Amino acid sequence: TIAILDFGSQYGQLIARRVRENNVYSKIYRPDIEIERLAEDGVAGIILSGGPASVYADNAPKTDPRIFELGVPVLGICYGMQLATSMLGAHIKPAKSREYGRAKITVKDSSDLFNAVNEETTVWMSHGDQIDAVPAGFDILASTESCPYAAVRNSKMKFYGVQFHPEVTHTPEGMEILRNFLYNICGCEGSWKMQDFAEEAIEAVRQKVGDDTVICGLSGGVDSAVVAALLHKAIGDQLVCIFVDNGLLRNHEREGVETMFRGHFKINLHVVDWSKQFLAKLKGVVDPQKKRKIIGGEFIEAFKSEACKIQNAKFLAQGTLYPDVIESGSKDGNLAANIKLHHNVGGLPEQLGFDLVEPLRDLFKDEVRKLGEILGLPEDMVWRHPFPGPGLAVRVLGEVTEEKLRVVRDADEILINEIKAAGLYRKVSQTLAVLVPVETVGVMGDERTYENVIAVRSVDTTDFMTADFSRIPYETLSLISSRIINEVRGVNRVVYDISSKPPSTIEWE
Ligand code: XMP
Repeated sequence: TIAILDFGSQYGQLIARRVRENNVYSKIYRPDIEIERLAEDGVAGIILSGGPASVYADNAPKTDPRIFELGVPVLGICYGMQLATSMLGAHIKPAKSREYGRAKITVKDSSDLFNAVNEETTVWMSHGDQIDAVPAGFDILASTESCPYAAVRNSKMKFYGVQFHPEVTHTPEGMEILRNFLYNICGCEGSWKMQDFAEEAIEAVRQKVGDDTVICGLSGGVDSAVVAALLHKAIGDQLVCIFVDNGLLRNHEREGVETMFRGHFKINLHVVDWSKQFLAKLKGVVDPQKKRKIIGGEFIEAFKSEACKIQNAKFLAQGTLYPDVIESGSKDGNLAANIKLHHNVGGLPEQLGFDLVEPLRDLFKDEVRKLGEILGLPEDMVWRHPFPGPGLAVRVLGEVTEEKLRVVRDADEILINEIKAAGLYRKVSQTLAVLVPVETVGVMGDERTYENVIAVRSVDTTDFMTADFSRIPYETLSLISSRIINEVRGVNRVVYDISSKPPSTIEWE
């Protein structure tokens, strides 16, 4: 394991992924982690991330100086470099001007960290402070014109520091530099594979669960599908899945889940048809947040009504991912688990007295997809776009009715099929249809029509926090538009949403 101590960098997770991309397992820790924990976890090296603080600021995050006593190599990046070098006696000062963007460094020593890196190479800089002077024991490995200590080494302390960010793609040889650190300096073998992870995770589930029964809520999405497939491999019939039909699902969704999990995987699947209750509660409600609250509440009722019938159930499985765990900044991740819980099955485990099983909590989304493939989930499922918990209720603007749901369902089906047929489904991040409850004038044959608008939205994003609209070719848009208008009763106009997030959001409600 490579430990990443996160000083609040926007790139903390990115560093963790880059390490894993080199088949070395990585974990993110708080900067004030006890050194004993790192020793227990058997870390082979430590990376100190960047961060927004200045080393000399009052509340600057610090780390235990004993990290240098662990005997493993340490790589400091940006703030991490400044902090570590100042702990080792260097002097840090504000740079003449904040350096931000691409810079050319000249490599002076290519014996280890810069092995096989070009003598002149481009790096990404983003810093206000820099090293002013270092005590004896430090070697300069690389410099830029304005930053003489762009990379340093202290051999006795096994410390390496880089002022730039090797983890971002704007540093073209950054991966090479990280690989040098991992393989040559830390001695990692690069043998960590998803297959190993799967086997370990399956064993860990068996250990934890014993002879008890585990309930897993299926949503139709990737994460819960992977959790179910993994648990099924681990404990077979001790797994019971619950799928709630809330009446707000896409066409063929429920049958799809039944075919895959009951039919193909032979998993014990309970389907709760709670659609009448959901729609009754949503009657007359137009406020999006109110809709969400109602749907969240009804979901708990539906889930509980089924879960309490299941004998010997002691555990609830959840598809909590690594970003959910670390974003909370909590020491042990429990707080994060609760946030996600609130999102999905709010407070259920407490109410029913369940313990949690979260086999994906160390993985990133793309790693979950890889794991899904290994577990034999079909490509269609593994590469599904996300779909919101409140379902089509937030894609029918205003009041939700059966008739409006039919319109948005049919439009959605055509849209997704055309995006797939154009070979775009895996290129874009999320595609959706929204029913805009506004009547516009049209003409069909000799008839004047006065019908609703369907808005098509498709976005490209990596984290769903920011997004841009997908550049769908006009021919595909044209096909989507004519098919929806011709085939979906009640629609005479289709528009394409060209807003980015921010300031817009991905969903319309
Ligand atoms: P927004 O609209 O906030 O969406 O830009 C970002 C991502 O989150 C999904 N989303 C939700 N997911 N419950 C969910 O489980 C919700 O209430 C919800 N609202 C938005 C959205 O589909 C997108 O992927």
